[in-house]
Amino acid sequence: MKDKMKIAVIASGRGSNFMALVKACRKDGFPAGIALLITDNPDAGALESARKNGIESFVVDCGPGRGSMSAESSSEMRRLCVERGVELVCLAGFMRIVRGDLLDAYGGRMLNIHPALLPSFKGLHGQKQALDYGVRYSGCTVHFVDPGVDTGPIIIQKVVPVMQDDTEESLSERILVEEHKAYPEAVRLYAGGKLKIEGRRVLISYE
Ligand code: GAR
Repeated sequence: MKDKMKIAVIASGRGSNFMALVKACRKDGFPAGIALLITDNPDAGALESARKNGIESFVVDCGPGRGSMSAESSSEMRRLCVERGVELVCLAGFMRIVRGDLLDAYGGRMLNIHPALLPSFKGLHGQKQALDYGVRYSGCTVHFVDPGVDTGPIIIQKVVPVMQDDTEESLSERILVEEHKAYPEAVRLYAGGKLKIEGRRVLISYE
């Protein structure tokens, strides 16, 4: 992984975004490589994928709070990342709000992917929220993580139409196809030094 920015991926579930990043990182000239996968879920599909792909992985018990993480688990994740020289943390379907040491250490160096066009439909079940609201378009957002829930500066958004006969599943699938493009694109920009945060706005350098 010489000359590549080391990234850590944190995921709770299936891990399709993790795999999209794994595949992107293998491409010639991609400026980042995955140093480790961390999960809070011993049954996460992402864990199995990491093992199959020879990527170091850890299960960190984040405590009983649904949607939150214990202070100890945040410190432990920070330690795992810092010890390996991780420069960027990518949340990929991590179903807890990141607070504490991990965010303190990686503020401005942590990305998240959300399955809706923020600032609409924050939090859980972004796809269902969009469907229930009746919007004509939804999509996904890759953004920097700040102390709020899905509130950090936006890097990339991709839009999909909402069809009249969509179910939560069919809309989620359509959005997921775009997620798998958006996340590698955002990581490429970040690791290539192309992003600058100015207040709420993220400026992209195209030089
Ligand atoms: C993705 O749709 C991601 O956007 C969403 O969870 C799914 C994870 O899928 N994240 C959130 O809802 C975060 N609030 P994956 O495990 O296949 O990448």
